[in-house]
Amino acid sequence: SLSAIFTYLAYNELTTYKEAPITMQDFRFHNTTDIRFGTDVIDAGLHDAVTQFGNNVLLVYGGQSIKKSGLYDRVKALLHDLNITELSGVEPNPKIDSVREGQRLAKENNVDVILAVGGGSVIDASKVIASAYYYDGDPWDLVVKANGADRMKLNQLPVVDILTLAATGTEMNFGSVISNPATHQKLGTQGPNSPAVSFLDPTLTYTVSAWQTAAGSIDIFSHLTEQYFDAQPANDASKGMIEGLMRAVIKWAPIALEHPDSYDARANLMWSATMALNGIVQLGGQDGWTVHPLEHELSAYYDITHGVGLGILTPRWMKFILSDDTEALFARFGRNVWHIDNGSDREIAELAIKKTYEWLNLMQIPMTLPGVDINDDQYFDAMAQSAVKVGHLDTAPYVNLSVEDVKKIYQDSM
Ligand code: NZQ
Ligand code: ZN
Repeated sequence: SLSAIFTYLAYNELTTYKEAPITMQDFRFHNTTDIRFGTDVIDAGLHDAVTQFGNNVLLVYGGQSIKKSGLYDRVKALLHDLNITELSGVEPNPKIDSVREGQRLAKENNVDVILAVGGGSVIDASKVIASAYYYDGDPWDLVVKANGADRMKLNQLPVVDILTLAATGTEMNFGSVISNPATHQKLGTQGPNSPAVSFLDPTLTYTVSAWQTAAGSIDIFSHLTEQYFDAQPANDASKGMIEGLMRAVIKWAPIALEHPDSYDARANLMWSATMALNGIVQLGGQDGWTVHPLEHELSAYYDITHGVGLGILTPRWMKFILSDDTEALFARFGRNVWHIDNGSDREIAELAIKKTYEWLNLMQIPMTLPGVDINDDQYFDAMAQSAVKVGHLDTAPYVNLSVEDVKKIYQDSM
């Protein structure tokens, strides 16, 4: 039949034909984030975007970056006629204490809308504060779903954001990642809404350091690999989109490092970041993620930069899962992303992993765990146990991993 031929053609590209093909998974996609992309988009749009929800604003930001760049003053001037309460000091790998403080401030000041100005950490924290406004208990309950807390059943304040770092995709997704240093936990949580309005001005990322530019670009690349390495074989629509986004990141990240104020580089990275994790490229796929659960343990125990941890782990994970079963997909990755034309599937697959490693290395980040001051394996067992449990790594991913497997990947990264 025609469908069998199509199925065969798609499989043929992956070289293995399976008797009982798994078809593209059903999905529903609904995302209402209003994206405003371009230079100086806040000047004309910010005031109305905020005041459509009211005049009481909780302004959330991180450390000094928005003050140094002048963005803080610009925002205050644009919103001079509104009631603004501030929550500052949201740290990278945002801590639950920031969310607690935001919950208190939002309630005390009856805020109508949260304005998040910063990178993923600031926006992630803001999304959870937006839920905590409607919750009377400790917001950590919302992250771990304790005491009957369920963000999906709670209302959520609207979040408007001005993104200052291209990386996480939080500007157009439903997720947040929050850390609790007291319990060594760093956990993802989903809310009912993505941000209401996201201002994406690439020029606001010119001041991002080389370290954070590299980390952000690697984060984008990792989001793409997590979704690309999926056993759903016939989903060429999604895999093709991912390949295009990977090529964009591979090309423009080194240019952004060399020319921090290249608009084209910053714009490509910013839009790739959003597209890599707004949900679209995962549609129809079936498998869960692997490297992120592994990395979140590193950040939880050692508070390292997310993207740097991903960069260290990704090539080791790739090497670990390369096998007769996976080499066809790795070869496709090699042909379509790294432009490798010659060789057997296995040769192309191995070269693709090598090229991935070389690209990561080009980003001038440490490529081993000791490079980020993780010098011994004392927590590897606890981290591996938690990664497998939280990430369902024994059942969910493209290639399942046991606790021993995860420890091996950490060990290989030393
Ligand atoms: O705090 P400030 O002073 O603003 O400095 C920040 C921070 O030190 C700085 N920065 C941000 N924009 C800047 C700038 N410096 C100069 N110029 C600018 N324009 O960069 C540092 C890092 O900021 P952060 O927000 O932590 O970075 P990123 O956007 O990479 O976010 C990382 C967090 O997001 C989580 C990560 O785990 C991590 O906690 N993730 C969130 C996801 C999501 N919500 O969907 C998915 C991701 O996989 C990821 O796990
Ligand atoms: Zn990430």
